[in-house]
Amino acid sequence: MSRSMSISEYGLPRWARWTSAGMLVCLAMLLNACAHTASRSTLYQDLGGERGVALMIDEIVVELHADPKLADLFTETDDDYFKERLNEQICMLTGGGCEYTGLDMPEAHSGMDLSAAQFNDFVEACRRAMTRAGVQVGNQNRLLAILAPMRADVIHQ
Ligand code: HEM
Repeated sequence: MSRSMSISEYGLPRWARWTSAGMLVCLAMLLNACAHTASRSTLYQDLGGERGVALMIDEIVVELHADPKLADLFTETDDDYFKERLNEQICMLTGGGCEYTGLDMPEAHSGMDLSAAQFNDFVEACRRAMTRAGVQVGNQNRLLAILAPMRADVIHQ
């Protein structure tokens, strides 16, 4: 039998072998894509979900009160109310599915005339708090990247 009659060697003609190989590759790619989608977590989950975010916010409020450059701004603050609003807001922004019920950012900071330098101090305080709460640097950066565009709504209000 000639070489071209490979049907007897492999049980299938060459076109059928290529077609089944192609289908297997497609199936593998499809399964891989499904597995990837199913395993992709939200930043909220990566921050430790409800418990992790609550712990992180406790630490943020500790840092804001402890920072000599920021503490004066928070002497009159109702910490429980502030923590609840921050919690809702961060949960909403990071894919935790919460609804934010507080003031919008310009309104919340109106009359404070916060400077860019104070905004940076606030960010550094958040970074220290996140480190203390055990948030990985990559996740700290992900959260700060979400907060950064809000700067214009917070400063000089
Ligand atoms: C992206 C950055 C910021 C976010 C997401 C944020 C978020 C919030 C939220 C949710 C509230 C409560 C709103 C309400 O009353 O319903 C608030 C209030 C406040 N924020 Fe910010 N804030 C940011 C930046 C800053 C900065 C840079 C400062 C100061 C350096 C600051 C100081 C304050 C103060 C003093 C209050 C009022 C607290 C009180 O009720 O006594 N915030 N902020």
